Amino acid sequence: MKKYDSLPCGLISARQLAADVFDFVFDCPPPLVQNACPGQFAQVRLPGHTLRRPISICGIDKGRGQLRFVFQIRGQGTAELAQYGPGDKLEILAPLGKGFPIDKSKRTLLLGGGIGVPPLLGCAAELGANAIACLGFRNKAAVVLEEDFQAAGAKVSVATDDGSYGHHGLVTGLAGQEAFEAVFACGPTPMLKAAKALAQSRGVPCYVSLEERMACGIGACLGCATPLLQEDGSPYFGHVCKDGPVFDSSQVQL
Ligand SMILES: Cc1cc2nc3c(=O)[nH]c(=O)nc-3n(C[C@H](O)[C@H](O)[C@H](O)COP(=O)(O)OP(=O)(O)OC[C@H]3O[C@@H](n4cnc5c(N)ncnc54)[C@H](O)[C@@H]3O)c2cc1C
Ligand code: FES
Repeated sequence: MKKYDSLPCGLISARQLAADVFDFVFDCPPPLVQNACPGQFAQVRLPGHTLRRPISICGIDKGRGQLRFVFQIRGQGTAELAQYGPGDKLEILAPLGKGFPIDKSKRTLLLGGGIGVPPLLGCAAELGANAIACLGFRNKAAVVLEEDFQAAGAKVSVATDDGSYGHHGLVTGLAGQEAFEAVFACGPTPMLKAAKALAQSRGVPCYVSLEERMACGIGACLGCATPLLQEDGSPYFGHVCKDGPVFDSSQVQL
């Protein structure tokens, strides 16, 4: 059964979090919000563009009927998106894909790098004190959502590449000191690789969120094909939009 819909949504809050990072909250009709879970994404239609832009769901407020998205300007589409403000309406297709398999009873390491941090905030909101958030950024000016993870009840630590804030070095350097029963990771591929290795060394499950260029977002165009591994280790092609974007790291060649 189809669990997503494409409907006009009203932008009710638009904030700039860093030089090129924006935080949008939309009032959305119930079909877009009620089935949404952390790690899933939306396809935002921008007037004048044939292809929609995939953006992860950063926050879900089922009571108010709202979805939150935090995005970075990468090209023309996201630069145009950043120009919208409260009162504007955009058509959003959501919720799409498979999210993180949250077990609220498990102490879960949330490992985020750069613009890979926002999709993990929804996990922190559900895990509360069972979330250990290790967040990595280029420098102090790029740090976003630290207070939001704290407000969710997570234990939060931040690393920056240049040491201008928090731990000087890679975010995986912070995570090595923590005790956890599962790992959820979103960020650059080398970080996902390190997350998988860390989880393997502890004997705990690891789930990673992948990014791939997308067109339809619903498994119809085959545009987001990615090489995956079956349980017996044999390779096959899956689709990030439908089979993911969150995958068990054992399925992914990193
Ligand atoms: C599942 C998923 C979740 C994402 N979540 C977020 C998020 O929460 N925050 C965020 O800032 N970014 C996120 N991205 C990346 C975001 O989709 C791209 O930055 C955006 O599409 C770039 O569009 P553009 O027009 O600015 O860039 P352009 O390079 O001009 O885009 C040209 C075309 O390529 C596609 N494209 C370009 N880069 C990407 C990319 N990295 N991934 C997929 N399609 C791309 C665009 O959709 C467009 O069709 C996500 C991507 C995926 C696949
Ligand atoms: S984007 Fe069309 S199949 Fe994934």
